[in-house]
Amino acid sequence: MPTLTLEDFASSFGTSVDDIRQTCLDLIRNKNFDYIIIAGRQRDKLITDILKKIDSDRQIIGAASRRQVWDNGWKENLDDFINSGFDLKKLVPKFIRPNQPLRYNQKYIRAVNPNFEFDFFSIFRQWLFKKYFSDSKNIYEFGCGTGFNLVALAQLYPDRNLYGTDFVTASVALVNRIAKVYRLKLKGSIFDMINPDETFRLKKSSLIFTIGAIEQLAGKFESFLQYLLRNGPDLCVHVEPTLELYDENNLADYLAIMFHRKRGYTQGFLPRLQELEKNREIEIIKVKRLYFGSLFLEGYNLIIWRPVDNGAQSKR
Ligand SMILES: C[S@@+](CC[C@H](N)C(=O)[O-])C[C@H]1O[C@@H](n2cnc3c(N)ncnc32)[C@H](O)[C@@H]1O
Repeated sequence: MPTLTLEDFASSFGTSVDDIRQTCLDLIRNKNFDYIIIAGRQRDKLITDILKKIDSDRQIIGAASRRQVWDNGWKENLDDFINSGFDLKKLVPKFIRPNQPLRYNQKYIRAVNPNFEFDFFSIFRQWLFKKYFSDSKNIYEFGCGTGFNLVALAQLYPDRNLYGTDFVTASVALVNRIAKVYRLKLKGSIFDMINPDETFRLKKSSLIFTIGAIEQLAGKFESFLQYLLRNGPDLCVHVEPTLELYDENNLADYLAIMFHRKRGYTQGFLPRLQELEKNREIEIIKVKRLYFGSLFLEGYNLIIWRPVDNGAQSKR
């Protein structure tokens, strides 16, 4: 049975095996990454189910009603967190579903370990945080949900100032509750990325990141980008589904493109960054498709950039 090796993680993240060994061997060692490739009639059945889902799905990303859905979802996590006596496991978002078929290297796979997706993501996140976040005094996550990424950051860097923002109150309440119970240097605030609050200024020496939050803006990311350019963070890191990175001549990729378009997840973010780079307003540092994702799409593409200090920006 195939299994993910250190080489596989290195190639997925776009780095060396030595780097993987130094940053996340501890996590990889303890997890099972065996899988089988779904083939033949099982694959036909899976593709039929995906097409039916694309046809029947009615979720519209960015619709006004979605705000309440997010608030209700994070309220459930908040209640579970409190009722469990503040168990950090209750912060794992319910959209990372155990026991599902997954996609890897443009194929559908079935994993032995029910938490394969979460474990893969945790390893990627640890690598990312160790590699790119070590120099930043102030770290902001936009669209932070339950705050579980910020908790992982606080465990790595307890001395940093961490800020979690989201456009719903249940998320902010949850983040502030975690900070209080675990005495973390973490603060939650309301922030709508579609209508940025200009009075919320980023501190000097800051890094901002998003994980599956630009996707939720249904393409309305320009005001947020302009807000970032005005505030001049040192580094911007995004982990987002990115339509432009799929190969439309590959079947599994094309199904993901169809799903992405049907729901209305953000498109055009990477091309816009490339345009800003051409205009010398920003520098793109890394774009890496991980070739890993859930049944319907690849949520894990890494995009890293920074504003170019050309004197034209008002740096707070
Ligand atoms: C897919 S979840 C990701 C949450 C978190 N980053 C994670 O990795 O689990 C998307 C998040 O974006 C938030 N969101 C959606 N639209 C937003 C907006 N206009 N401004 C700020 N946050 C938004 C949602 O409330 C939700 O917390």
